[in-house]
Amino acid sequence: MTVRLADYTPPSHIVEHVDLTFRLHPTQTRVISRIRFAAGGPVLRLDGEKLRLISARVDGVAIAEQPDETGLTLAVPEAAFTFEAEVEISPSENTALEGLYMSNGMYCTQCEAEGFRKITFYPDRPDVMAPFRVRIESDLPVLLSNGDPVDGGWDDPWPKPSYLFALVAGDLVAHRGSFTTMSGREVALNIWVRPGDEDRCDYAMGALIRSMKWDEQVYGREYDLSVFNIVAVDDFNMGAMENKGLNIFNSKYVLARPETATDEDFARIEAIIAHEYFHNWTGNRITCRDWFQLCLKEGLTVFRDQQFSGDMRSHAVKRIEDVLMLRARQFREDSGPLAHPVRPEAYEEINNFYTATVYEKGAEVIGMLKLLVGDEGYARALDLYFDRHDGQACTIEDWLRVFEDATGRDLAQFKRWYTEAGTPRVHVEEAYENGEYALTLSQKGGSPKVIPIALGLLGANGDEVLPTTVLELTEPVQTFRFPAAARPVASVLRGFSAPVELEMQRDHAFLLAHDTDPFNRWEAGRALAKEVMAGVIAGAPVRADWLDGLAALVTGDMDPAFRALALRLPGEDDMAQTLHASGVVPDPDRIRAARKAMAQALAERLRGDLSALIGSPEPWSPDPAQAGRRALRLAALSLLSRLDGGAEAARAYAAADNMTEEAGALACLLEVGVGADAALAFEAKWRHDRIVMDKWFTLQILHSDDAVGMTGRLVQHPLFDMKNPNRFRAVISALAANHAGFHRADGAGYRLLADWLIRLDPVNPQTAARMSSAFDSWSRYDADRQAMMKDQLRRILATPGLSRDLAEMAGRMVG
Ligand code: TRP
Ligand code: ZN
Repeated sequence: MTVRLADYTPPSHIVEHVDLTFRLHPTQTRVISRIRFAAGGPVLRLDGEKLRLISARVDGVAIAEQPDETGLTLAVPEAAFTFEAEVEISPSENTALEGLYMSNGMYCTQCEAEGFRKITFYPDRPDVMAPFRVRIESDLPVLLSNGDPVDGGWDDPWPKPSYLFALVAGDLVAHRGSFTTMSGREVALNIWVRPGDEDRCDYAMGALIRSMKWDEQVYGREYDLSVFNIVAVDDFNMGAMENKGLNIFNSKYVLARPETATDEDFARIEAIIAHEYFHNWTGNRITCRDWFQLCLKEGLTVFRDQQFSGDMRSHAVKRIEDVLMLRARQFREDSGPLAHPVRPEAYEEINNFYTATVYEKGAEVIGMLKLLVGDEGYARALDLYFDRHDGQACTIEDWLRVFEDATGRDLAQFKRWYTEAGTPRVHVEEAYENGEYALTLSQKGGSPKVIPIALGLLGANGDEVLPTTVLELTEPVQTFRFPAAARPVASVLRGFSAPVELEMQRDHAFLLAHDTDPFNRWEAGRALAKEVMAGVIAGAPVRADWLDGLAALVTGDMDPAFRALALRLPGEDDMAQTLHASGVVPDPDRIRAARKAMAQALAERLRGDLSALIGSPEPWSPDPAQAGRRALRLAALSLLSRLDGGAEAARAYAAADNMTEEAGALACLLEVGVGADAALAFEAKWRHDRIVMDKWFTLQILHSDDAVGMTGRLVQHPLFDMKNPNRFRAVISALAANHAGFHRADGAGYRLLADWLIRLDPVNPQTAARMSSAFDSWSRYDADRQAMMKDQLRRILATPGLSRDLAEMAGRMVG
């Protein structure tokens, strides 16, 4: 059934209070609910799925109605009334990991978006907000729910939608901390993990405390309960979940010590801890009216976690990483059959809309808004947002009105960023005449939007003659003029000020050497590398100007993290997308060969510099500066491996005392085809560690020249377990991420992925559907590959009993 934004109607009833009792049992959990409804209409519809109804009463009188497949409709008094029900559910059989389920002997819940209806009958929609009181009956030692602990249970005074409900029960231990809020309240902080994992919580606790402090300092937002709990679970469909006062995390985004987690893992943990914490205000205190407004909380919270990570680390490096991700995932999505607006207008299954567009483009849209209204306007608008809408379920219209009211700016045109799909293209023409430099910008793709274009102008010697200025492109074509004594060099779209494709003739080598904006300097190197790669694919040699420019930058004195990013060659999938956009049909094998040839040429060009760049390992510390030095060291080690057959990487592998070096050296060895021994050693050392073993599975597939064969072997491994999403993704997503392997000419990659999606679907439809998006790029490729990819999508669609989740995705992709 299609759900449409246009069909929204307010709830028939308001919930005043919810009382829940859980009698936990692996196969026969009883959920007893007592829900007080305010006066409303004569008919009440409650959502409920896969619930065994034991009994239900309205104001103490047993009801006559029986539930259907998706819920319960009943006649109710028009005055206030109490609905009570007892239902039975089976958490141990719940492999979909939505609702109440079991993971390693522990009970946990995942209710966003519509999981609460698998726990009990309820108006399971975000615009119904109520305070909850919860009691849990179980022999397990630790029993947690939302809010503050009270006699016999938990009380959450803050009205919340059901998707923020959470319950955890298990044999858990706490890593404890505390935080004093800006108004002087003490908050107990607990990270709950399985016994044995206590020594891996330190970093997450520090990140939580930094997040709490930052939200007070930057947004003036204080935490609002006496306790904040985080629980790490091994079986989880996504990264983490912001349940009020009880965040539940995929354990890989909590547990870390230097021996088991890479620098990237540490950075991701910090970002996700912050993200979920920030939801307390942007998502929980102010929530979404309906699921079409998902970007209201997700775009804003991603934007906030990006700001936070930039403040904690390096803004330039963070921006480059975010844009890499945006292009790889969101631009890809926006250019294919899964394209949708930041605020979608229709869905079959809402779980399919937790996308890069809603999250990442949703964050970009807020970044543009901030650029347009300025930092002060943004701060005023956010203060007004929190003031005006605290405790409410809101829409994008509410959000934009706050900015209009706080700044006096009309945002009617800006709103198109929320309602139109697709990546706008901005075409740039330059002219210089009579001491005047003219920049003509034209935009294509959808109706004209307001696009903030950050511009700087450089002199011929690289001096900045115009510091960064934000131009507002609002018309289809617009010319901006600047007096200039000589023809300047333009640095356009600095900091990637808008999520657009820029079309412009540029001297990348000059900008790589001179741009004063670090993002655009990196961008120039990237664009140049792609130009070179396109040439190599077409049979040209690796260009010396690229090698020289990159060598100069990499051996210079810029931030090592920045230099490491500059050394990272464009990925194969990224290149395929770029070629397709320029009208060339990508050949996956030629892309791989070209990329290897460029890495080889770069290694040879840097031959004399590599050992200095590699340096020697430092005693590990988690600080970003050191992580940057390590990233540069490993990038150089990877190049050296192409010259010495992996001799230095083998030494680094043997000497490694932290996972960044250990996994990094293993990747170097696998990449040059000599990693088998190290992989065996790694397996022997880490086979009892789930999180680390995921890396072992992934790396071997990612760096294989026979990804299909490697995947086929690894799914036979005793530790492969399709019920654990992390493990499934570690193997099957790695196959899809090995571009040349997945797109093997005989279609074996496509078949293998489809086989596993079909197998996973009855077990975990949400994860199967999410991973099916690997097929969304079919239109880029040659006719044979297109046909084979679509055949697999049709085969998936024809599978009997297919989930709504996967059916919607496959259906949208084949059209
Ligand atoms: N709201 C969560 C976040 O962005 C993500 C989320 C949505 C989720 N649905 C989920 C997590 C299902 C796990 C399972 O932080
Ligand atoms: Zn979120």
